Amino acid sequence: MEIISDPGAMRARAAAARRAGQRLGLVPTMGYFHEGHLSLMRRARAENDVVIVSLFVNPTQFGPGEDFERYPRDAAGDEAAAKAVGVDVLFTPSAADMYPPGYATFVEVAGLSDVLCGARRPGHFRGVATVVTKLFQLCRPDAAYFGRKDYQQAVVVKRVITDLNFDVRLEILPTVRDADGLALSSRNSYLTAEERTRATALVRALAKAQGLFAAGEKRVSALKAAMADILAAADARVDYVEIVDGDTLAPRDAARPGDLVAVAAYVGRTRLIDNTILGGDELEPR
Ligand code: PAJ
Repeated sequence: MEIISDPGAMRARAAAARRAGQRLGLVPTMGYFHEGHLSLMRRARAENDVVIVSLFVNPTQFGPGEDFERYPRDAAGDEAAAKAVGVDVLFTPSAADMYPPGYATFVEVAGLSDVLCGARRPGHFRGVATVVTKLFQLCRPDAAYFGRKDYQQAVVVKRVITDLNFDVRLEILPTVRDADGLALSSRNSYLTAEERTRATALVRALAKAQGLFAAGEKRVSALKAAMADILAAADARVDYVEIVDGDTLAPRDAARPGDLVAVAAYVGRTRLIDNTILGGDELEPR
């Protein structure tokens, strides 16, 4: 496995592969790999000749007071894990190379960036859209792999690809969960053992909404109230609970199949997110 840190060298490596007629798959990450990340890499490995994984804790997507400085990092562990799943190139740029002095260009996705997590984390999706655009420009991949765990992020990236005419196929893969349902996240490492147990309230709340919806409850207010009860019982502080159109992210009064149920909640000091598609994904009632 090659490790490339210089953006110019990354661009040249990707261009050479393209000229040789190879298919390129890109998996953008911030590292501290878990099975969710690895599932994206494995799919990319199966579908491409060259698999590029970017590992960059992107400062522009963190707000003031968020966890940029203490975001978990494990360079050696990540390198070994990526190598083991057959990644060809690990791209590890520095912040100074991605955003040199004078850097001034940002990608804003209006509307989609202003709801759900975007409403709670101003500027977050601007940072995501900007760094993903830069990664697409450097690597010019045929396909890019994202997780449904960050559903809104995938919707924003889809919009960027369409609006900026990127010739990239977007692959969105299912959320990988622990045995008790908790969605894997690098941020789970912040949780104490006791918080880790309480954190299952997010997936239990989502499963409750799925169960009620399957039993005929369509009122968004009732579905949200049932979820709030489960989160409160686990002492998880709700940041938001929303049921929105799965494509436009517009709010709904009456839920329909295909709608997104999204939750963000603090367990202790750790902010966790999770989601499910009503009637549409693998989440079983818990
Ligand atoms: P990061 O949180 O490292 O996630 C990298 C990719 O892994 C994202 O597409 C995310 O949705 C996916 N992922 C995370 N947890 C997952 C899980 N449990 N199951 C399946 N996929 C999962 O998301 C980012 O980094 C950044 O915002 C990034 C896109 C790299 C831009 O900086």
